[in-house]
Amino acid sequence: MTSGAPGGSPIRVGVVGLGYWGPNLARNFDRLPGAELRWICDGSGAARERVAPQLPGVRVSAELDELLGDPELDAVVCATPVPTHAEVAVRVLAAGKHCFVEKPLAQSLAAAEEVAAAARDAGRVLMVGHLLEYHPGLEKLKEIADSGDLGELFYLYGNRLNLGKLRADENALWSLGAHDVSVLLRLAGEEPAELEAFGESYMRHGVEDVVFCHLRFPSGLSAHLHLSWLDPHKERRFTVVGSKRMATFDDMALEQKVTVYDKGFDQDFSSYGEYIARSGDVWSPRISNEEPLRIECRHFLDCVREGREPRSGVESGVRVVRVLEELDRSLSARRARGSHDGQPLAAEDPTRAAAL
Ligand SMILES: NC(=O)c1ccc[n+]([C@@H]2O[C@H](COP(=O)([O-])OP(=O)(O)OC[C@H]3O[C@@H](n4cnc5c(N)ncnc54)[C@H](O)[C@@H]3O)[C@@H](O)[C@H]2O)c1
Repeated sequence: MTSGAPGGSPIRVGVVGLGYWGPNLARNFDRLPGAELRWICDGSGAARERVAPQLPGVRVSAELDELLGDPELDAVVCATPVPTHAEVAVRVLAAGKHCFVEKPLAQSLAAAEEVAAAARDAGRVLMVGHLLEYHPGLEKLKEIADSGDLGELFYLYGNRLNLGKLRADENALWSLGAHDVSVLLRLAGEEPAELEAFGESYMRHGVEDVVFCHLRFPSGLSAHLHLSWLDPHKERRFTVVGSKRMATFDDMALEQKVTVYDKGFDQDFSSYGEYIARSGDVWSPRISNEEPLRIECRHFLDCVREGREPRSGVESGVRVVRVLEELDRSLSARRARGSHDGQPLAAEDPTRAAAL
């Protein structure tokens, strides 16, 4: 892999896609030492006009090709909608630029593998924006799980719930689950042997708002995900249950994001084969409060500078898409057999549909 920016000069970055998320990436690359935000780009005039005044001196374009034709640009950050990721990333890599693409890498395994091949052929860094892999709280949770303090890992689960943004071009699995699948795979350190997903589409025909996933890994570890943008609670939490202790990561907590519970069952030696519940100390390790997005962007710059593979690089990006695709296949099979769907609900009961 070729490293970027010769002789200690700043890495010149362009950000394409200035909708909801892209401006956060642009702000970080603009402020990070060792980077120069050289371009921002969006096909929409309204998006350009909204963001450009916040970034004076940065060149503005409506066309990705203008960025790709700039010989001094080292890297392009892609925050366009998910269906465009693979095509944009392949163009960026083929132009010889390093590429940071938002999650997920692509909408199918075949497309993800095409991007991976383009990165290998170009010898450029490809990093996927699996933000939670850079969260200091999840780093700590992994450190605790790997240390053996929890004992043998029995199971883990993630809840990502909210009354959130309804999306038309991807379901809750692809939109919310991309984060959680990347975390599950990182915590588990292996790929699942069995997967199953159940989902329901209440608000939009064929687009699941609520998804439950079950995964089982070769080691026996099992995992569960509850993903929903139709829920009264705002939860972003992971729980790891081990044979000795349990631990949680709660991204909604202002403090004590990681908590370890000395809880479990101990053998009762006074009575053979019986167990007694143990409810001991509960503690929270200190977690750095540096913005995970800043850590993620800095990691990309380091990888470009040093020509090394990012934590959420090609292999991990493809792995996440493979798991999402298999889970989606399971959802589709159920969809075909007839699960709940926005359309019939509206037709059957207009009062209820209006209330929704
Ligand atoms: N990491 C996170 O926590 C996080 C959070 C939100 C969104 N995202 C990701 O960010 C990406 C963007 O999501 P969003 O909610 O900002 O979407 P959005 O629809 O608000 O914005 C996308 C923008 O891209 C522009 N665009 C589309 N195709 C383009 C092209 N070919 N050239 C130039 N501009 C183009 C659109 O005009 C639009 O302004 C998605 O991949 C999403 O998954 C990540």
